[in-house]
Amino acid sequence: MTTQNVTKHTDGKKPTRREFLTKGCMALSGAAIGLRAPGLMAQSQAKAAEISRIDPGFIGPQFFDEREERALLEVLESGSPFRYWGPGKPTKVLRFEEAFAKHMETSFALGVTSGTAALDCAVTGLGVGPGDEVIVPAYTWWSDYTCVVHAGALPVFADIDNTLNIDPKDFERKITPRTKAVIAVHLLGGLCDMDPIMEIARKRGVAVLEDCAQCVGGSYRGRKLGSIGDVGIYSFQINKMMTSGEGGAVVTSNPLIYERSARFHDMGTIRRLFLDRSGPSQVQTFAGENFRMSELTGAVLGAQLTKLDLMVAQLRGNAAAIYDGIKDLPGIRLRHRPDPKGDTGYGVYFEMKDKTMRDRCIRELRGKKVPAGTMSGSVLLPVQESVINKRARHSDWPSFNSSHGRKIKYGPDSCRQTLDVFDRFVQVRIGAKYTERINDYVIDAIRQVYTSVV
Ligand SMILES: Cc1ncc(COP(=O)(O)O)c(C=O)c1O
Repeated sequence: MTTQNVTKHTDGKKPTRREFLTKGCMALSGAAIGLRAPGLMAQSQAKAAEISRIDPGFIGPQFFDEREERALLEVLESGSPFRYWGPGKPTKVLRFEEAFAKHMETSFALGVTSGTAALDCAVTGLGVGPGDEVIVPAYTWWSDYTCVVHAGALPVFADIDNTLNIDPKDFERKITPRTKAVIAVHLLGGLCDMDPIMEIARKRGVAVLEDCAQCVGGSYRGRKLGSIGDVGIYSFQINKMMTSGEGGAVVTSNPLIYERSARFHDMGTIRRLFLDRSGPSQVQTFAGENFRMSELTGAVLGAQLTKLDLMVAQLRGNAAAIYDGIKDLPGIRLRHRPDPKGDTGYGVYFEMKDKTMRDRCIRELRGKKVPAGTMSGSVLLPVQESVINKRARHSDWPSFNSSHGRKIKYGPDSCRQTLDVFDRFVQVRIGAKYTERINDYVIDAIRQVYTSVV
């Protein structure tokens, strides 16, 4: 259903902007249908409609309201969409950075154009370069690999385990004297087991970059994700928890990492406002990029941030209800969640004995209109053709031209455990606006299908 269709069905009157935003977004999520059902007949029709279109939708846009609208209008009316100057006094990105750092319990935040740009800044912040190795989970998004390659360093893959995140034991096995950093990616709304990761990293002198792109607003044992390692990054692309369509952020409490990241995001130069935050400059100008965030993006993100706790609570609550409803199924092996209270609840995950059973389970759940699938949103990196063939933007790229770069072998043998985990897990997507009725329906469906398949 398109937003246009939604507005056409509102009792013939032109909707207000507020109605347009709310109804459009909620109907697109497929979760609001049960809310307008007066009589018994209408109620059962509403229930059927609700169940026939279970759609988790995009989280952030389901919460768009007059706050985003007002903030965007302020930017347009001020004539200042650029963060540093304009006829008005641009402060949206500035204020967003301050609020985001506070929310994530770090000293500094930097707004950038995407999560990928944030990773490039963070890797620069850590001083990663040619000759260094960076350990990256074998299943994650491309950018965790490309940021290492763009820095001229060598990506070394570690397997994931049943947290669906990096296996601390394999991380430790992959450390060499050249290891500069590990990227701990909190994937699919679930947390890496940070205590062992931090202990190993500190003992072996390895920096920790937390990639929180898929887990914005999550926490681990009471600490905000992104604040535990040396530096954290986030994405605000539409599939993520809070969104401005595109966008990203870097957080850290280390002034040197902050200055290097801030310089890289703005041609290698630094503006007073960043030094006012992090103290006297420690780095000379170097060749950087332009990853500056616009005021329009900052406006939307400032508004979305005020709702982050609510969005996370709703999604997390729905996932917890479904996990709770299936956990007593005999023999079921759920995703290992090192701290379920900190999970953001993007999906519910359980393991089948093999790929055939997993595929049957997914097929039958889909037959019942449950949004089931394989783990999604990332890539099995070591088996990608361009990775196996170590292709960078230039054939003499330093990443793969060192003696270790020439020697390293990617491909399926470098990530057997990851391939096995991927082949066995079922994902059921969760929506922030799922009703209790939808949660109960999904629980019943999983119980029936799981019992019939095993
Ligand atoms: C784990 C992870 N890291 C980084 C990124 C990059 O974010 P962006 O799409 O904003 O560049 C993504 C995007 O999907 C992601 O999933």
